[in-house]
Amino acid sequence: MEFEPLRDGHGRLIGDLRVSVTDRCNFRCQYCMPAEGLPWLERAEILSFEEIARLVGLFAAMGVADVRLTGGEPLVRRDFPRLAAMLSQIEAVRDLSVTTNGYLLERDAQALVEAGINRFNVSVDSLQRDRFFELTRRDALPQVLRGLDVLARFPEAHPIKINAVAIRGFTEDEVLPFAEFARRTPYQVRFIEFMPLDADHAWTPDQVLTGAEIRAAINAVHPLEPEPREPHATARIYRFADGRGKIGFIDPVSEPFCADCNRIRLTADGRLRTCLFSLNETDLRGPIRAGADDRELEAIIRDAVWRKELKHHVGEPGFIQPARTMSAIGG
Ligand code: 5AD
Ligand code: SF4
Repeated sequence: MEFEPLRDGHGRLIGDLRVSVTDRCNFRCQYCMPAEGLPWLERAEILSFEEIARLVGLFAAMGVADVRLTGGEPLVRRDFPRLAAMLSQIEAVRDLSVTTNGYLLERDAQALVEAGINRFNVSVDSLQRDRFFELTRRDALPQVLRGLDVLARFPEAHPIKINAVAIRGFTEDEVLPFAEFARRTPYQVRFIEFMPLDADHAWTPDQVLTGAEIRAAINAVHPLEPEPREPHATARIYRFADGRGKIGFIDPVSEPFCADCNRIRLTADGRLRTCLFSLNETDLRGPIRAGADDRELEAIIRDAVWRKELKHHVGEPGFIQPARTMSAIGG
């Protein structure tokens, strides 16, 4: 079947889909989940691999060529590499990537690379074991670093990106160690500004350690030079002036990149979200299970995407935080 490209009502072509494959996680990061976890979805509420593959195929036919698998923690979903292999069979998917906390990479890196995943983002918020424990509520830094080592053995998986959420009062002490880490290892480190997607709704604007502040602190020790920005890229990349590695900044709060956002999201329970901060979502699971054909699904998707938000309103008066946390949306 022929499909037109997917476009929103502001003229943006949609080319990037994030698929949350589970809302569960083996970590309890303070900025994402409460210590006791969240009420998990029931098995029957979660899209099956076949349902995910059908939707991804449909999106890809409409030009959504970049697909990232997220969670919760995607690697806790049983048989996750099998899903990865199913999706990498879809020809129109050009780039298939995974965002993970790294805890299960030691076990799964090989299977995922063999399944066709060629880009990995691994979340690491601290390079000190006790501080990593404090933030994620799991004493798991050594396990994550072992997972990274295993992943790094596969040339197909490079460049490997490390994401660190930047929180004022915590991340300042991590900035230079992460800069050194980026200079000494093959990993590209990116700092992400803390966003109001935390379970406790405790976010305040002053807790955001901005990319500009972090950049200034690094630049004072290791001079940085900007790289050209790629279209739709969320990260601003800088190279160390002496040529030793790169570092990136994802600044959704201080420097929103909504204007050329080409991204949509599918939750584990089959809802389409057109913005991280959407207050409403569109159910695709119901129609699929009621027997909708591809044309019917296409019409529902186009209608939802047409109404994609112009921009987010984080930090503005009247901003309302979505009910879902990052773990239930998919990063
Ligand atoms: N603000 C910014 N980033 C967040 N992440 C999770 N919650 C937040 C938040 N409130 C990050 C994770 C991971 C990615 C999926 O999203 O650390 O890198
Ligand atoms: Fe899990 Fe990622 Fe949320 Fe941490 S940020 S609790 S690793 S889903």
